[in-house]
Amino acid sequence: MSTSPQANPLSEPVPQLDLTAQYAAIGAEIRTAVERVLASQQFVLGREGAALEAEIANLCGVAHGVGVASGTDALILALRACGVRACDEVLVPTFTFVATGSAVSALGAKPVFADIRPETYNLDPAELERRVTLRTRAIVVVHLYGLAADMEPILAFAKARQLPVIEDNAQAIGASYKGRRTGSLGDAACISFYPTKNLGAYGDAGMVVTNSPQLAERIRTLRNHGQAAKYLSSEPGWNSRLDEIQAAILRVKLRHLSNWQRARQSHAAEYSRLLTQTPGVMSPIAPEGYEHVYHQYTIRIERRDALQKFLGERKIGSTVYYPYPLHLQPLYASLGHNAGDFPHSERAAQEVLSLPMYPELRREQIARVVEYINDFITH
Ligand SMILES: Cc1ncc(COP(=O)(O)O)c(C=O)c1O
Repeated sequence: MSTSPQANPLSEPVPQLDLTAQYAAIGAEIRTAVERVLASQQFVLGREGAALEAEIANLCGVAHGVGVASGTDALILALRACGVRACDEVLVPTFTFVATGSAVSALGAKPVFADIRPETYNLDPAELERRVTLRTRAIVVVHLYGLAADMEPILAFAKARQLPVIEDNAQAIGASYKGRRTGSLGDAACISFYPTKNLGAYGDAGMVVTNSPQLAERIRTLRNHGQAAKYLSSEPGWNSRLDEIQAAILRVKLRHLSNWQRARQSHAAEYSRLLTQTPGVMSPIAPEGYEHVYHQYTIRIERRDALQKFLGERKIGSTVYYPYPLHLQPLYASLGHNAGDFPHSERAAQEVLSLPMYPELRREQIARVVEYINDFITH
């Protein structure tokens, strides 16, 4: 029998994400869908995009979906449609992907950062009162790693101040909060179909979903050069359209999403079950009434960098989402923040580690990852 590293399951790498396993399973369906678009020769704003908009809106439990070029564009367009303009302030959590803040900056507005709750990594609702000013024009809430933020107090605060709430639902499509899907909780929600997301395209794509016909119409206009009617522009927009090939691919993948979601949840349960015996490691939590979709399975450990190195040497992939909170990014140096301003976010940035997570992950791979973590802890 061969003893080469490839043949030995103990030395087989476990990547943090393996999209090739998914393509192997659904490649034939995808190719049929792409062929259909090629045969139609309709590539922009056609039937596939319209059908995807209806299907994603339905999944989120809202009336409208507007396909756009990326999750970042979805944020920029939603903020703009909600009335955010240059010099306005927008409240955003500091522990997130940079796009949440840079979408605000793209409009010439100022992101005003807020800290997170350490146990969920999501916006701490108590922070809103501390950070709001007379210039605050909107709130962006991120559902990080696939877990909804605590929306009830956030929505109550926003209602009292008459501020629109935009959900950054880039990582949490299919998740729910107290019986309602993420994407249906705020005034508008932004989805990213970046290839690594739970529902990922084969390139960039995104969508805004909303119950408001006015917001949907405005975003439809803005994504297409501000044209309210053909060749008649009423305001400056740009080209941010989701193309038909991506839409057709996403429609195929959407049919598998609930199965993939269940697989992710079952992997997460297995990780958490095995890690209960591991001292010093905090597993992700899903509070009562929240359905977590585990875009990431993110643990927390004090010696994070050493663990990541240890795992890497054993061919176990892991990623730090995110090593720098937004207030400490060079991009936002001019805002004058210092280390210590948002302690929960800063600590999370030093301690979080996302382990291998994708639907096709196998039980023995999960067991191996946890065994190595245990080895690290006990040595
Ligand atoms: C939380 C969050 N917001 C926004 C984005 C931006 O989405 P996109 O890459 O599709 O522009 C992403 C993903 O990249 C994200 O994870």
